[in-house]
Amino acid sequence: MEFQQMKEALLERIEQQQLVQATISQPRLKSNDVKRIKLKPLMLKGIYHIQLEYQYERILKHENVTLDAFPAALDACFEDFRQFQGEFVDEQIHVQLSKKNKVLFKTTKQQQKKEVNLAHNRKKNYLLDETTPYPFLIRLGVQTEDGTVKKQKYDKFKQINRFVEFIDDALAHLPKDRTIRILDFGSGKSYLTFALYHYLKVEKGLDLHVTGLDLKKEVIEECNQIAHDLGYDQLEFLVGDINDYNDETAVDMVVTLHACDVATDMALARAVKWGAKVILSVPCCQHELNRQLQAPALNVMLQHGLIRERFAALATDSIRAQILSLVGYEAQLLEFIDMENTPKNILIRAYHTRKPATQEAREQYDAFVQFLSAKPFLHNELTTYLDEVK
Ligand SMILES: C[S@@+](CC[C@H](N)C(=O)[O-])C[C@H]1O[C@@H](n2cnc3c(N)ncnc32)[C@H](O)[C@@H]1O
Repeated sequence: MEFQQMKEALLERIEQQQLVQATISQPRLKSNDVKRIKLKPLMLKGIYHIQLEYQYERILKHENVTLDAFPAALDACFEDFRQFQGEFVDEQIHVQLSKKNKVLFKTTKQQQKKEVNLAHNRKKNYLLDETTPYPFLIRLGVQTEDGTVKKQKYDKFKQINRFVEFIDDALAHLPKDRTIRILDFGSGKSYLTFALYHYLKVEKGLDLHVTGLDLKKEVIEECNQIAHDLGYDQLEFLVGDINDYNDETAVDMVVTLHACDVATDMALARAVKWGAKVILSVPCCQHELNRQLQAPALNVMLQHGLIRERFAALATDSIRAQILSLVGYEAQLLEFIDMENTPKNILIRAYHTRKPATQEAREQYDAFVQFLSAKPFLHNELTTYLDEVK
């Protein structure tokens, strides 16, 4: 059988909604981050989807695609993998590809017709497990004593886990030969700060020092008490304003979760000045650009308050990412968590690669801020760095 014929045979059965489940394995390259991909059908809002579960060394990531988008997804799978093992309603199919895509295609009749389960399995394999009691999550009121996640705290639990996944991904960028310094700006109740400490120090045994900083004195006192009670001796909380935090000791990773408005920019600016290796920042409400924004060509959009607000937030995050890439960071805007959990769902991830910025990137940035009449706070904070790429 030819390669193209094999794909058409699989797609035909999948389009007829006969797939029960499948596993795609045998990466073509040993270095492939994804080790295998599981496929299962599921119904989302009445529309048939195929869920692709990407299995990495330690984490799982999911993508749900419609039937229209599935052929491209399958092509991508076969670019990286050589084996397909599928259960269909009436048959089992085994596909083995040679390095040059010679196809071995074997189909075996099912002894008994298989049933398709289209239910969305909401239980997810989190880095912090849903049933294990974690002392810090119990103290922060996310779990009960027996490790059950409280219903009203489930969204928070998901957010914490998602953030820990990003931290896990960033590990390769952190120093290995000395104490890693981490700062959580606007730490608030510090769910994230504790989770980060637990994951990196307690579970991974890394040498690190974590600081949470916030304006609120009582909250900080409470957090210090919890850290003390749990014996987290390299975790400290300080009362302070991000803007005035001028500790010269360089920080390796700066994180912020929902630091309001320009508090996020203050944190990003501090991170750049330290040359922090990793920045993970989920911004919050955005007012600065909303006030400045003037672009007559966009009035059809901007006349609507709601659209103006959302546009300002998206443009601000784009400006932040562009500034970071102009000052030596590889910056990406990623989905932090699904919209149903929180609408504040963009995460700025930046790794300090020191890659020089191109003139074109600088020109694109200048044109964009000029078009919007924007005077970004972050730009003002980093003028000397940005002047180097004029
Ligand atoms: C929405 S809360 C988020 C708290 C926490 N990161 C979380 O996600 O649970 C924002 C926090 O940022 C703090 N904050 C805002 N502006 C700040 C500043 N200039 N300096 C320090 N903390 C600030 C607030 O006090 C508040 O606790």
